[in-house]
Parts: sequence; C-alpha cells; structure tokens
Amino acid sequence: MKKITKICCIGAGYVGGPTMSVIAKQCPEIQVTVVDINQDRIDQWNTDDLDTLPIYEPGLKEIVGERRGKNLFFSTEVDKAIDEAQMIFISVNTPTKTYGKGKGQAADLKFIELCARNIAKVAKDDKIVVEKSTLPVRTAQAIQNILDNTGNAVKFEILSNPEFLAEGTAIEDLIHADRVLIGGNDTPSGQAAKDALSAVYEHWLPKERILQTNVWSSELSKLVANAFLAQRVSSINTISALCEKTDANIQEISRAIGFDSRIGPKFLNASVGFGGSCFQKDILNLVYIARSYGLNEVADYWEQVIIANDYQKSRFAENIISSLYNTISGKKIVIYGWAFKKDTNDTRESAAIAVADALLEERAEIIVYDPKVSEERIYADLDYLNTRSPEENRRLLTVTKEPIEVTKEAHAIAILTEWDEFKTYDWTTIYKQMLKPAFVFDGRRLLDNDTMQEIGFNYYKIGQS
Ligand code: UDX
Ligand code: UDX
Ligand code: ADP
Repeated sequence: MKKITKICCIGAGYVGGPTMSVIAKQCPEIQVTVVDINQDRIDQWNTDDLDTLPIYEPGLKEIVGERRGKNLFFSTEVDKAIDEAQMIFISVNTPTKTYGKGKGQAADLKFIELCARNIAKVAKDDKIVVEKSTLPVRTAQAIQNILDNTGNAVKFEILSNPEFLAEGTAIEDLIHADRVLIGGNDTPSGQAAKDALSAVYEHWLPKERILQTNVWSSELSKLVANAFLAQRVSSINTISALCEKTDANIQEISRAIGFDSRIGPKFLNASVGFGGSCFQKDILNLVYIARSYGLNEVADYWEQVIIANDYQKSRFAENIISSLYNTISGKKIVIYGWAFKKDTNDTRESAAIAVADALLEERAEIIVYDPKVSEERIYADLDYLNTRSPEENRRLLTVTKEPIEVTKEAHAIAILTEWDEFKTYDWTTIYKQMLKPAFVFDGRRLLDNDTMQEIGFNYYKIGQS
C-alpha cells in the first residue's frame, strides 16, 4: 500500500477547510495543502487574525492556529499541490443547476469536471482521487472517464468518501465521527486505495467505524442519509401544524416517540423549516435520479419532504401576517437569526430567507439581527431570489448589530435561528419598549411559554396551540 505523505484538497470551503484542518491535526506527519481558485478565500484562510477565517466553526481557529505553516497550507497554486500529492480530495461546490437539463434539481457538476480535467493535465504519477463533495450517484464514473481519457497515461483510483459533518459541530463530528464511508473499486488497486485512505482515518478512529463499500453504495448512501434526516424534520414539522390546531404539544410528542428505540430521540425538533446546503440539494438529486430511471412513485415520495418544508416556512410567515391583523405594511418586524442553524455563518437555503421574503411582499419594515452573518450576505440572499429590486430590498430591510435597541416600537419579533444568546436577553426590557400588543413568533421553540406570557407577550411557539 502506498504511504500517503502529501494530501491536496481542491476547494477551501465549508467542507474542505474543516476536514483538512482535522486531518492535519490528527496526522502530523502528513502534509496537507488546501487549494482554491478564489484568491480572496485563500487570503482569508491565511489571515493573521484567526477570528476572520472565512468559515466560523467552533474549535476551527484553534486547529488552524496550531497546524498552519507546519503541515497545513492554504494556497492558490492548484497545479503544484496536485503534482506533489499522492492523494487528492475534490471538495468543490456542487450547487443545484440553474440552467438547462435538470434545472432546479440536478447537481451542477461543472466545477467537478474542471477539477478532474485539471488533475488529468497536471498528474505525472499515479494518484488516488477522492470525491468529497456531495454528488449524484455515478459521478465517480464520470471523473474516472475524464481522467482516463485525458490524462498523461498515469493510473487514477477514484474513491467516494462522502462527508457527514454538520455545520456548527463540524470539528466535533470529524473527530468523533459515527462512521467514515469509503467507496471504491473491488480490484486490487481499488482495494489498496481504499486501505490507504482508511489508514489516514485510522490515525484517530477505530477501524470498525470505517466502512468500505462499492462506489455506488457510498455515493447513494450520502444522499439517502441526508434525505432520511430531512424527512424526520419534515415529518415532525407536519405534526407541529396539527398540534397548533389541537391541544397536543409537539415537544411532548417528540419526547414520547423518541423513547421508542426504533425511532430514537435525535432530530425531532420542530422548527420553521430545515435549511443548509445539503438537505434540499440532496433530495432534489435523489428525486432527479429516481425520475431519470422512471421511478416516479419513488421521486414523488421524496419530493414531498421538500414540499412539506416549503409549507412550514410559508405557514410560519402567514401566521405572522394573520396574527398582526392581516396587515403588516409599514409595521416594524425584527428578525432574530438569519443563519440556517446556530453556530454557523452559513445561510444557504435558510428558512429566514423565505420568511423575510414573504413578509417583504406584504411591505413590512424588516430589521435583521444575526450574531455571525454579514450584512452583505443577507442582502445577497434576498437579491438572489429576484422577487424585487436590490434597491427595494435595501429600502424595506435593514441589518443591525443592536438587537435590543431595535425592538423599540417594533410590532413583532420573529426568532428564526436558535442562537443561544437570544435566551439570555432581558425580555422584560424588550417588552416594555415594543408597541402593544407585542408579538413574539418563536420558530425555534427557544423561549419559555409561561415566562413570555407572564411578561405580557403574545407569544407563539411553533407546534403549540
Ligand atoms: C446536514 C447533515 O446533518 C450532515 O450529516 C451532512 O453532512 C450535511 O447536511 P447541516 O446541514 O450542516 O448537516 O446541519 P443539520 O444539523 O443537519 O441541520 C439541517 C437543518 O435542519 C437546519 O436548518 C436545522 O435547523 C434543521 N433541523 C435539524 C431542525 O429543524 N430540526 C431538527 O431536529 C434538526
Ligand atoms: C407495530 C408496532 O411496531 C407496534 O409498536 C405497535 O404497537 C403495533 O404496530 P406490528 O405491526 O405487530 O407492530 O409489527 P412490526 O414489527 O412493527 O412490523 C410491522 C410490519 O412492518 C411488518 O409487516 C414487518 O414485516 C414490516 N417491517 C418492519 C419491514 O418491512 N421492515 C422493517 O425494517 C421493519
Ligand atoms: P462546500 O460547502 O461544498 O465546501 P463551498 O462553496 O463552501 O462548498 O466551497 C467550495 C470551494 O471550491 C469554493 O471556495 C470554490 O472557489 C472552490 N472551487 C470551485 N471550483 C474550483 C476549481 N476548479 N479549482 C479550485 N477550487 C475550486
């Protein structure tokens, strides 16, 4: 088995950055170089001020501070890093296609293809290529074809090694992974490549948690794992709607069903809707793949998970509008939280975007506070929807760094991300300075019902009548 001494990772994003930092930390004798075509991003990874790394993840800056310049490097010299490494991770973005065949559903593989062509061009000796991005099934085959047909007659072994880290707990998830999945060919060289990658993870994980499969199972497992997780959230969210019409309480239901060991207690928190770069994209991929094989019932089944999620977001926004007497035009509504979950600055597919958009359609005056998301990001998310002009978005919505101050004379507050700091606020002071009746719409079930009502709020908690 080839000993791995140099690893290159193409793509310094949410997946590549944290994953490679952890590999560098756990394998001090391996040199890890993360490359990206985006100079700004690489500069940010190389910043002296570790508080301004491009990605916020608890525990990340400590590891980067410890390993950077020793065996962890961030660079734009893509070709050099490819040339030197025995193992190359592809960790570039695979957004949903916005054009052509599969628009709105299939993954856009153009960044992957560019990477594969680049590797083929540069490589002068045998390489193990690891696909780390979330990809539709059979992408490994496409990468293999490109490499075999355009390369310099060197041998490439392609592995699928899907990422299961969740943002906000990425470092913890990587260090204490439930399992690592390595898919590869069943040939002797495929087996050697799988073992070589396995050896990297065995630096810190027990061997029995490293599962080897064929390539297709590995690729599909990633989509299915995310589809199952998203399905749990949509399932509990549909029940939250039913709870609001009856005297049942969603938390009591989550607890009751979670005690069944076949169901389990995790991932049963009702919310304003799931977001993040993976769930929706992966389900759309699954749906697209199923349809392309003529499996329409399978596709319809999984598509329903997304339909239910969209329903949850619009239901939440509609409830705000109807509670505020069906007119929110010119009313000041403060949004607490823009990230798709706490402890991350990532906003991709965040429920907050859809809720804000619906409220803006009714001409509300929106003020957003999020402890980690930048003003530029918030406007970029809204502008991307194209619902109204960028000027209008900036006129109707403002971003603040003063969460308490801005509640003065507000009609309502909507909690859309479960940031811990919201629990520590002095809600009595907030109540006093808001217009009455003062509404709080809690899309994350963060606050205590009785306390909020005692203060005087009209308090709505998702999943509770
Ligand atoms: C997910 C998977 O968990 C991870 O394994 C995969 O590699 C990438 O996709 P991530 O999107 O980072 O990770 O976060 P996750 O914790 O799964 O949350 C996704 C969304 O579901 C968030 O918007 C979160 O708020 C929401 N959620 C999660 C709920 O609304 N309720 C829950 O009980 C759990
Ligand atoms: C079920 C519930 O398990 C039980 O808690 C409830 O009180 C009554 O309904 P039961 O119908 O007796 O119990 O059997 P169960 O073991 O749940 O199986 C139900 C069906 O699902 C069976 O046809 C079984 O073959 C099938 N099944 C179960 C699968 O096809 N795959 C599985 O992984 C599990
Ligand atoms: P993910 O969540 O999958 O990590 P990100 O968008 O955070 O996605 O990161 C992907 C990174 O990959 C981006 O920084 C992007 O600039 C980079 N990238 C895309 N294509 C290439 C390429 N051909 N070569 C090098 N880097 C690339």
